[in-house]
Amino acid sequence: MNNNYESLYQSSLEQPEQFWAAQAQAIDWFSPPVQILSQDEQGFYRWFKGGMLNSCHLALDYHVANGRAKQTALVYDSPVTGTIQRISYEQLLQQTARFAGALQNLGVQKGDTVVIYMPMIPQTVIAMLACARLGVVHSVVFGGFAPHELAVRIDDAQPKVVISASCGIEIDKVLPYKPLLDEALNIAQHQPQHTIIYQRDLLIADMQPQRDLDFQYLLNYATPVPCTPVEATDPLYILYTSGTTGKPKGVVRDNGGHAVALRFSLQHIYDVQAGDVFWAASDVGWVVGHSYIVYAPLITGCTTILYEGKPVKTPDAGAFWRVIAQHRVKVLFTAPTAFRAIRKEDPDGNFAQQYDLSSLQYLFLAGERCDPPTYYWAKELLNIPVIDHWWQTESGWPMVANMMGVEALPIKAGSSTRPVCGYHIDILSEEGDTLIANQTGYVAIKLPLPPGCLPTLWKDDARFRESYLSHFEGYYLTGDGGYIDDDGYVFIMGRVDDVINVAGHRLSTGEMEELVASHPAVAECAVVGVGDELRGQVPVGLVVLKDGITTPDQQVETELVQLIRQKIGAVAVFKRAIVVKRLPKTRSGKILRKIIRMIADGTPYQIPSTIDDPAILTEIHDALRG
Ligand code: COA
Ligand code: AMP
Repeated sequence: MNNNYESLYQSSLEQPEQFWAAQAQAIDWFSPPVQILSQDEQGFYRWFKGGMLNSCHLALDYHVANGRAKQTALVYDSPVTGTIQRISYEQLLQQTARFAGALQNLGVQKGDTVVIYMPMIPQTVIAMLACARLGVVHSVVFGGFAPHELAVRIDDAQPKVVISASCGIEIDKVLPYKPLLDEALNIAQHQPQHTIIYQRDLLIADMQPQRDLDFQYLLNYATPVPCTPVEATDPLYILYTSGTTGKPKGVVRDNGGHAVALRFSLQHIYDVQAGDVFWAASDVGWVVGHSYIVYAPLITGCTTILYEGKPVKTPDAGAFWRVIAQHRVKVLFTAPTAFRAIRKEDPDGNFAQQYDLSSLQYLFLAGERCDPPTYYWAKELLNIPVIDHWWQTESGWPMVANMMGVEALPIKAGSSTRPVCGYHIDILSEEGDTLIANQTGYVAIKLPLPPGCLPTLWKDDARFRESYLSHFEGYYLTGDGGYIDDDGYVFIMGRVDDVINVAGHRLSTGEMEELVASHPAVAECAVVGVGDELRGQVPVGLVVLKDGITTPDQQVETELVQLIRQKIGAVAVFKRAIVVKRLPKTRSGKILRKIIRMIADGTPYQIPSTIDDPAILTEIHDALRG
């Protein structure tokens, strides 16, 4: 392997087809690609056209046939239920192949879609891989989303079947999922032919005859089915992510580019080989869970950890250290917010001293910017490389990182280091000019994007073009702002749109504004993400009431808080909706959200020359910080 980052990176940009053709050899194709890079009829770039493969075969069958049958594929570690279960590659294959048989018996076939709304249990992974086995497109919806969010996704994905469980568990709260699913199906226009429910011992859900089927019963009585070969360019999954409006974007992932990119990333970025234990402490409902709990570690032949718990309170701030010691984890990947939560409860890191953490070689952090205090605290505590790396649902794998499997570069706190192979990153001005070192602008990626990145949005090529490709000719717009320093290190400074990250959860303030504005008392509103010590950001609403509204401000706030909780979910952590007389606007009527954010954060700002009434800023200051 080339162990010089600079030359490997340059070769990936100068000769992308040769570079990715070589990487594609690391996976077991049924038949190799005919064209490494091509463009489809829309003009969108596609990788590995003509290649035939199956992502479930790569994740399971291949390893069972090549000496890993008895190796643990998945450790289900659930402090909330007091369970630890080790599932070998052979066992995971048996169950997946049978569950795929069950889906097939229900008439689910290649090209159909299936929505999965489940907690962090092995059956979720089985469901995902069973879909992949049949060439069925899965769409996992994060279990923390409310029925309205689930319904929107069901209507867009049009699933033949929805798979769910009787409940999830948040620390010590049992959260019934089935009533949420029933409510979502009441709201949704589209109705699946069946729902399949995994009944957990903790709570048995009421079943609706004919429609609701029992997961375990289906599994027990089905016969295993083989993998259906699919094209490299066929979709593997849809993952909905927050955009700037109430309608989430259905990010599409293909099979071929995804498998090649993830296989490449685990070795070259995370320095992980077959047989290693890899733990992404995230949720399968997010892209981190898709890529680094399920597909990448399994495609690579690792042992992956499925953790149903929190960094704290399950049972204490030593939870992560216990898992690392018990399962001999080599690499931990989580969000900085998890470390802030641990640090808050155990600032001196006393819990870490109680465990043997000698197996742990790297800590990778993503999902939000790793603030330098968190970086230094984690580094000092663990005394291993702490790697901040930057990516997003759309890319599916890291775009900027310290590629530890290639060459460990010096770390600069606050930077996610250098662009990953395949990503040509430029910082652009509003006009689309490439900015020089240290100037902040739009972070954009020159086309073509490398394998693994989204080829389009689900059934919405126009929105894909408009959201990502139309701003700067020849570039993909990431939605983040930042700069590149003299040494080529990338510093991501935050979103330039209405997306915020709350405890590593990506949410849309635009969507929250739409919901707040739907309240009968509200004339207009702004929702912005403001800095939060634990969660990085939390949303705060400023609300102007309609004339003549006599409802007390406090009551309006309570109703709005409840509305967002009901429609999006508790994960939005929307707790403040402050009633004000007016919102700060430009003379042309545009709400100055950036100024509101800066006032809330206590960041110094300049009064924009375009503001229609500067006096209003004092009022906003008093409302937010008074
Ligand atoms: N299902 C149902 N509800 C959920 C949920 C889920 N999967 N995840 C979170 N919630 C609920 C919580 O129970 C909480 O509800 P409450 O208001 O009734 O108490 C609310 O959503 C807010 O959750 P959260 O912001 O996660 O707060 P927390 O106090 O439970 O935990 C952290 C804080 C930092 C420990 C936690 O957010 C964490 O571990 N984050 C890591 C994030 C992560 O993995 N991101 C993925 C990208 S890498
Ligand atoms: P998601 O699609 O949920 O993974 O969220 C992606 C967004 O999270 C990015 O566009 C960034 O705004 C933010 N993000 C993720 N990782 C980082 C990081 N390492 N540094 C800064 N921002 C990050």
